[in-house]
Amino acid sequence: MTSSASMDLHTDPSLFRGLDVYAVVGNPIAHSKSPLIHAKFAEQSNQAMHYGHLQPDLGGFAKAAQDFFAAGGKGMNVTVPFKLDAQALAQVLTPRAKLAGAVNTLWIEGQQIFGDNTDGAGLVRDLLAQGITLRGARILLLGAGGAARGVLSPLLDQLPKNLVIANRSAAKAGELVSIFANLAKEKNTTLESVTLEGLEDSKNTAPFDLVINATAAGLDNQSPLSHAAAANVFVPSSFAYEMLYGKTSRFMQQALQRGARVSDGLGMLVEQAADAFLIWRGNELASSIDPRAVLAQLRS
Ligand code: ATR
Repeated sequence: MTSSASMDLHTDPSLFRGLDVYAVVGNPIAHSKSPLIHAKFAEQSNQAMHYGHLQPDLGGFAKAAQDFFAAGGKGMNVTVPFKLDAQALAQVLTPRAKLAGAVNTLWIEGQQIFGDNTDGAGLVRDLLAQGITLRGARILLLGAGGAARGVLSPLLDQLPKNLVIANRSAAKAGELVSIFANLAKEKNTTLESVTLEGLEDSKNTAPFDLVINATAAGLDNQSPLSHAAAANVFVPSSFAYEMLYGKTSRFMQQALQRGARVSDGLGMLVEQAADAFLIWRGNELASSIDPRAVLAQLRS
């Protein structure tokens, strides 16, 4: 195992003989809730395992991951900014990871590194757990980066009526529509793209049942929606989902001002972790873990 300064020794598998070791990998990573979430799942399902965190330097993901697996590490969750590096490292990708264009879960099987993406499934499960109907819904997805792409196929699998992708850069939204056009057709979903300014046109913008913010705007205390766009897309029956978590974002405030219900992305974080946990430890543990109880503990 490398003694790189970027490596947190608490994740060094050689220190945990006999115990399966996992880690979340990102930069920065110190404030990640994943170690706590996985510790709760392990406790609920009686699994002897250790889950720590690694912070490779930017550009250092592949080496850190290879060292981790070479030392006996069993699996990794991967977060910003390494999801594309994780996809490149994986020797076998699940179909949904291919469609997502990014990997958030890695594990060793035989001699090969497998990669999956559980983000979209996590989002869908959190929405369903909050009572949101996706089948036949009119959905607005804000953003066209990795976070948006990662959730498109699981959202389409729920058979919404319309899915509109709105992004600051129109070209990126158009690219996503091309990539997912066939899947949308298969699901009988109308998939289209608009610019963020396009949402300000009240004649051509009907309100949405569900508006998902997959942009990074909240990190700068901004919303991708202008005042005029927010007035067009939200009605009191709308549900606004912010993928970031930790505070009531500007986007969530805009929805609340129009009487809509809102959620941050903490439930998505817990649910994607649950999927990763079951991939690693076995699906038969599904009835032993309780992601909603873990979410409630995190919120309290
Ligand atoms: P991620 O993996 O988090 O999706 P990304 O691939 O860099 O990160 O994508 C960031 C997304 O947030 C993009 O859709 C970006 O819009 P552009 O494609 O036009 O750059 C969007 N974004 C970031 N800051 C934004 C802001 N202040 N307002 C609106 N959209 C923003």
